[in-house]
Amino acid sequence: MNSVKERMVPDMRRRSVLRAAAALMAAPALAGGVAGAGTVAERRGASAGGSEGKGSLDLPLLTRRRTLGSGRFSMEVSALGFGAMGANYNRGVSPDRNAMIRLLRQAAEHGVTLFDTAQAYGPLTNEELVGEALAPYRGKVAISTKFGHRIVNGVYQAGKLDSRPENIRRVAEASLKRLKVDAIELFYQHRFDPEVPVEDVAGTVGDLIREGKVRRFGLCEVGPETIRRAHAEQPVTAVQSEYHLMWREPEKDIFPVLEELGIGFVPYSPLNRGLLGGDMTPYTRFDSGNDNRDTLPRFAPEALAKNLMIVEILNRFGRPRGITGAQVALGWLLRRDWIVPIPGTTSLSHLEENIRAVSLAVRSEEWKELEDALAGVTIVGERYPLEQQRQIWKN
Ligand SMILES: NC(=O)c1ccc[n+]([C@@H]2O[C@H](COP(=O)([O-])OP(=O)(O)OC[C@H]3O[C@@H](n4cnc5c(N)ncnc54)[C@H](OP(=O)(O)O)[C@@H]3O)[C@@H](O)[C@H]2O)c1
Repeated sequence: MNSVKERMVPDMRRRSVLRAAAALMAAPALAGGVAGAGTVAERRGASAGGSEGKGSLDLPLLTRRRTLGSGRFSMEVSALGFGAMGANYNRGVSPDRNAMIRLLRQAAEHGVTLFDTAQAYGPLTNEELVGEALAPYRGKVAISTKFGHRIVNGVYQAGKLDSRPENIRRVAEASLKRLKVDAIELFYQHRFDPEVPVEDVAGTVGDLIREGKVRRFGLCEVGPETIRRAHAEQPVTAVQSEYHLMWREPEKDIFPVLEELGIGFVPYSPLNRGLLGGDMTPYTRFDSGNDNRDTLPRFAPEALAKNLMIVEILNRFGRPRGITGAQVALGWLLRRDWIVPIPGTTSLSHLEENIRAVSLAVRSEEWKELEDALAGVTIVGERYPLEQQRQIWKN
């Protein structure tokens, strides 16, 4: 796949800020208007002053860049993005709003240039949080967001979709305001809407691109035919779907199409919603009232206890190499250079750990060893309950 390559700028190292910053200066701007990350000094200058301090200097600087998509609608971003959903939605108790704003800014300060949110997260409040946090970095980072769930007067209508052109336009206008940006860098359809032909969806986003309100188009959880049909109407920059060591389905019929068409891939829930991070135990419960893991079969108490076996395998692989299970899980995803994972975190130490996963020295034969070790594990439970599974489009 010649359109998607990783820029190998000098490795990130603790306290090697100056050297890495010089490399960043050489990084080209994100196609379509978002500038490169700039130097640490430049980015500090742009900040609202919320994230500085010795602690943030200790974070590694993420200097590696990857390109999602190809041609006019390609997008150069940091090799690892940041999934912002869990900052206030669906991942249980999170630190207060100001702390999350500081964390998002710390990610931006340290080289993350792709932040992912959606109208449905909150709903609306996650976009508001991300918009406020990243306002000082406008033009230096890219925010991706999504349309397609039905939200009426700020209330999420469970199981209902809405990708009618008029709704896509409405969401775009409102998201622009919440995100405090002039254009949405990457606008995904969150779920395929069987009521609206994907050509109409792609065409509407194409019109928004021509009007300058959106820069690029993406799709989530769709099948190969839908990708082809949409791409023919409006080139797709990235497909975002679940993909990690406990869910490898996209490898079968999605990856070949993405490689053929030069489309990037953004794996969501790359740590399987924290399970692969190793912080859960058989006693962990998701009963905060703000956690969808409560509804996911793989996280039901009996299933979770069995599924945690996988964490031991990751740890066994990571320990002799001096890396954590979470880094193993992210490093495995990063072995393909057209993939940009978007792990979410509420913690500075996890952010640091995740950023460091970009520069692991693990050879492809070693990843095979990990895959072989995992092949013997039976994963218990479906990834989604039936209602959500129905929204995953296979064609
Ligand atoms: N398109 C879609 O339909 C869709 C669906 C779901 C998600 N997404 C996107 O994908 C993003 C990420 O997904 P996600 O939040 O579901 O799952 P994830 O990134 O796989 O996991 C997040 C969880 O992992 C924990 N974690 C992060 N780093 C860790 C580390 N180094 N060690 C141990 N635990 C760690 C976090 O806890 P701490 O806070 O304690 O670090 C958090 O609870 C979302 O923010 C959203 O943008 C998209």
